[in-house]
Amino acid sequence: MKRKVLLDCDPGHDDAIALLLAAYHKDIELLGVSVVSGNQTLEKTGLNTLNLCQYLNIDVPVSLGSSRPIIKEEEVCEVIHGESGLDGVDFPELNMQYDSRKAVDLIIDILMESKEKVSVVTTGPMTNLALAIRLEPKIMNHIEEVVLMGGSYTNGNVSPAAEFNIFTDPEAAHIVFNSSLKVTMIGLDVTRKVLVLPEIVDRMEKINNHASKLFVDLMKVFNENQRKVFGFPGGPLHDPVTIAYLINPDILTIEHMHCSIDISHGPSYGRTNCDVFDYNHLEKNTYVATDIKVDMFWDLIEKTMKEGQ
Ligand code: BDR
Ligand code: CA
Repeated sequence: MKRKVLLDCDPGHDDAIALLLAAYHKDIELLGVSVVSGNQTLEKTGLNTLNLCQYLNIDVPVSLGSSRPIIKEEEVCEVIHGESGLDGVDFPELNMQYDSRKAVDLIIDILMESKEKVSVVTTGPMTNLALAIRLEPKIMNHIEEVVLMGGSYTNGNVSPAAEFNIFTDPEAAHIVFNSSLKVTMIGLDVTRKVLVLPEIVDRMEKINNHASKLFVDLMKVFNENQRKVFGFPGGPLHDPVTIAYLINPDILTIEHMHCSIDISHGPSYGRTNCDVFDYNHLEKNTYVATDIKVDMFWDLIEKTMKEGQ
């Protein structure tokens, strides 16, 4: 049976590939996409999502969510994702339209109407999901698990301590991590191992179809920006690891532990404090990814793009 998935995202180069994987893989049924501000303003991440769906022929409702975090000011990541949030690709004229519902209503409707439990995947700041939980806590009975790209139990990428998605809206993450939902955190500790090295770009280019062309165009810009900012030989393809894990959980090593979000406004604001060694003997509330089978991940991306929709 296909796994039902709701995707909340902020495209974003790596969000784009997560969307592709969720929509194209036969084991996933993508029910809808909600959008949040993050890598760029909501206006831009929303348009990017519609453009991606139209280009990839993905026919699901797309709703606009929050244009800023719950407490903090808006933060974007132009230095990696560019002025459009998805630099590197020119889309044809856009005809697809947003669903008339706000993201929070879309999330609530899809979850409440689903007979089977749904996996909720977030690849941006967790604002929309946190607001939906607050507005209609009954949705939690319909969530199989939350799988998020975000956080790090080692070092961050926007401060020594914090990762972008959590740092952008730490209070939203705090709500979700303390919700009693099953939360699986896929942080920088593993996503930095899946680098889009030049040989990966060459390998995907050989597929030579609609999806692979998008991949290559996006990754050329993404890789260049990651090289300039972090000195990486290839960009870490963070977000698709969430979907890859739902398709094949064997891809990740996961450990159960306590994790709290630093919402103290100090130097570690937005850090995911993961008690890897169980110092504090607190209730284990988070499944944390600690390792990834890199070859298996790329095989999955390649096969999914080859097979198409
Ligand atoms: C996360 O931040 C964004 O820039 C990426 O899309 C990813 O979701 C990595 O820290
Ligand atoms: Ca993202």
